[in-house]
Amino acid sequence: MNKSHHELLRLLADGRFHSGTELGESLSVSRTAIWQKIRQLEKYGLVIDSVKGKGHRLSSSLELLDQDRICAGLPDSVRSELAEINVYSELDSTNRYLLELLGSEEIHSHLVFAEYQTAGRGRRGNPWISPFASGICFSLGWHFPVSPEPLTVIALGTGVAIVRALNKLGITGVGLKWPNDIFINDRKLGGILVEMRAESTGPCNVVIGVGLNYEMRNSGTDLIDQPWVDINTITTTRLSRNDCVSGVINELINMLNEISRSDPGYIINEWRKYDCLKGRFASLILPGDTVNGRILGIDDHGALVMEIDHQVKKYNVGEISVRAQ
Ligand code: BTN
Repeated sequence: MNKSHHELLRLLADGRFHSGTELGESLSVSRTAIWQKIRQLEKYGLVIDSVKGKGHRLSSSLELLDQDRICAGLPDSVRSELAEINVYSELDSTNRYLLELLGSEEIHSHLVFAEYQTAGRGRRGNPWISPFASGICFSLGWHFPVSPEPLTVIALGTGVAIVRALNKLGITGVGLKWPNDIFINDRKLGGILVEMRAESTGPCNVVIGVGLNYEMRNSGTDLIDQPWVDINTITTTRLSRNDCVSGVINELINMLNEISRSDPGYIINEWRKYDCLKGRFASLILPGDTVNGRILGIDDHGALVMEIDHQVKKYNVGEISVRAQ
């Protein structure tokens, strides 16, 4: 989406009617150009009503991500720690964007958001689908002078940070599904994709990608291949999208600092408190195989522990599939 389309969207974001003349004057273009831009916006799945004599309006108001509002919601200590914040209306993938900086010092504390990703990446090569401005999609780069042990604590800690943030925003019943999905009532609310370059005893640069469903109202959600839920559906009072972002970033940065400072054991223990699959019977889909058994939890290295045919087994890869209860 180019700059002028984004500016038009900002004008329409309030969900009220705006005449073609008013919009044209604001953007210094003709009414015909406004029509053309509106058709372009519709290609992003945005529903725009155009009514003769009234003008154009979004079918419902939209809270676009706003760097100033995100920063205003952060404590000074966290804000000052952020090296850079970029908000893009469109990117291929925020993880891919930051991976370009993986080898450089610029990666540290670099935060990138996208209203829409044309090639959002999920785990195991799956796409991450989040229609325009419907989710909270961001990546944060981080440099650890000494790699945390175990490395999985970065992804597990990110899940813990998100649960903490959502709880503080008044969202309860949030659980974590190994290895790092955010779940509510057996429906996926979000996912985490950590990509890294680490030396076993040396430093480690990571890109932490987070996708949360905020208000999945635009077209495209039919492509999601598992039960999902969004923040807007589970909350009784409407939460500001930018406030949700600030809450998550605040907890995430605090968590990353905690990982460097202290024994990651307590983060793994906290993850166990939110484990929403412990005790359940499930299938674990492995590369080329599927095993069935009862989930016992995670070990101190973040591996999944299952009881299969009366034997305790541990897994570092795989995708859990459970039947809804
Ligand atoms: C998963 O559950 O499969 C992980 C999803 C991670 C999605 C986020 S959205 C922001 C960041 N950029 C990406 O391309 N992926 C992650």
